[in-house]
Amino acid sequence: MRACGRPGPRPALLLLLLAPLGPCAPGTPATVAPAGDAAELAFSTERPLHVVSPAFLSFTIDANLATDPRFFTFLGSSKLRTLARGLSPAYLRFGGNKADFLIFDPEKEPAFEERSYWLSQVNQDICKSGSIPSDVEKKLRLEWPFQEQVVLREQYRKKFKNSTYSKPNGFQRKAGIFIDGRQLGEDFIELHKLLGKYAYKNAKLYGPDIGQPRRKTVEMLESFLKTGGEVIDSVTWHHYYVNGRNATKEDFLNPDILDTFISSVQKTFQIVEETRPHKKVWLGETSSAFGGGAPLLSNTFAAGFMWLDKLGLSARMGIEVVMRQVLFGAGNYHLVDENFEPLPDYWLSLLFKKLVGNNVLMASVKGPDRSKLRVYLHCTNVNHPRYKGGDLTLYALNLHNVTKHLQLPHHFFNKQVDKYLIKPSGPDGLLSKSVQLNDQILKMVDEQTLPPLTEKPLHPGSSLGLPPFSYGFFVIRNAKVAACI
Ligand SMILES: *[C@@H]1O[C@H](CO)[C@@H](O)[C@H](O)[C@H]1NC(C)=O
Ligand SMILES: *[C@@H]1O[C@H](CO)[C@@H](O)[C@H](O)[C@H]1NC(C)=O
Ligand SMILES: *[C@@H]1O[C@H](CO)[C@@H](O)[C@H](O)[C@H]1NC(C)=O
Repeated sequence: MRACGRPGPRPALLLLLLAPLGPCAPGTPATVAPAGDAAELAFSTERPLHVVSPAFLSFTIDANLATDPRFFTFLGSSKLRTLARGLSPAYLRFGGNKADFLIFDPEKEPAFEERSYWLSQVNQDICKSGSIPSDVEKKLRLEWPFQEQVVLREQYRKKFKNSTYSKPNGFQRKAGIFIDGRQLGEDFIELHKLLGKYAYKNAKLYGPDIGQPRRKTVEMLESFLKTGGEVIDSVTWHHYYVNGRNATKEDFLNPDILDTFISSVQKTFQIVEETRPHKKVWLGETSSAFGGGAPLLSNTFAAGFMWLDKLGLSARMGIEVVMRQVLFGAGNYHLVDENFEPLPDYWLSLLFKKLVGNNVLMASVKGPDRSKLRVYLHCTNVNHPRYKGGDLTLYALNLHNVTKHLQLPHHFFNKQVDKYLIKPSGPDGLLSKSVQLNDQILKMVDEQTLPPLTEKPLHPGSSLGLPPFSYGFFVIRNAKVAACI
């Protein structure tokens, strides 16, 4: 399922069109970086390492939102729709543990809220449909904190209910049924046959939505791919860095924890290459911390390090799509909170979507210490009206406690660079739920309108300053890189 919106003019894009035409911000004077805090970059731009999907950055809605189906009505919020539209093109995955326990009963009498949701969806084109009445939205928002507790409690209970099995399988723990990889593969083949008989011939199949490659999941993935691998369009797996219940701020800033993702990706590709060579690999569900995210962390500026680094490593290692858990819903790892306010990772995702193109190149920091200064390079997204083919987008995370000055390779040294630096805003520092882009706080203009994402043009030849514990994007204009044309 594609999220609403299609390429071409739409509100968010129109704003971007207008913004760069305004008066040009004065260039920042060239600065000379102190030697110790300068970091020389090396680029490899001859050919793309990988080409990711235009929907590379995608997102999920957890099936637990349907624990009480009245809360589905939230998806009719006009603010939430505006925010989702900003991230198009994207896939929207609807799934999660609760999906195994959802029963569709067309005979059931709908609740008042559900009925008002349907009434608002009179238009056949879901993207043009109206929003739900504000009193319905208000009522549900009042009830949501209680519902959220119900949902999370259920999630927690499930996780710790029975952990003594030698073959832990989500379905077994929750439903007392065990399905092994071979069986699941055969079921997928059966499903594929069924779909082919009906109007769903062109439906794609993705699976098996397996957890990180540990011993049991490796066995399950292998046997699934051997039997059912042929009928799936992409192999999906899930990744979380840490446990939301005990994760700390230090975990979120720890380069060793960020690096643990690398071996998980390598292992997954290894299994896929051995069983179904060249099959595409997607992260079907992923976030910072499992169990709904880490309170006061997964919804703050600090979460952006895990998110941006995961996007960078995924693209560099050849993952075609990354689905962020969740756009909206229970817990702390959401992009949009319970008041439909966008959180720091929403803004980071929006910038990524607008600036980062599908062709993945290679950037690295010269010298020994690369782990705290992490850099990624793509061709620029040419749907952005300010940029064109041949331009480069560099994105970088600074986990040092001092400002680092990135120095472009000699060949690009005198190019014009637009900076998009993201920093926390307000007294909470790294734990802030609000961010600034180039010193301007990001917030929606109104329910239908996203703010312009205004660049800061740097003076050609400047070093690219990255303050302590910050991240940002740098677009290198007129770079004329052949692999990006
Ligand atoms: C775990 O599940 C098994 C099989 O359903 C059951 O026999 C056992 O009592 C459960 N253990 C706990 C601690 O719930
Ligand atoms: C968090 O808890 C899990 C088990 O509940 C444990 O294995 C892990 O080491 C803990 N992590 C930290 C950082 O305390
Ligand atoms: C900065 O980090 C270094 C280690 O990388 C540490 O020795 C130093 O105390 C830190 N400085 C501050 C101000 O936190």
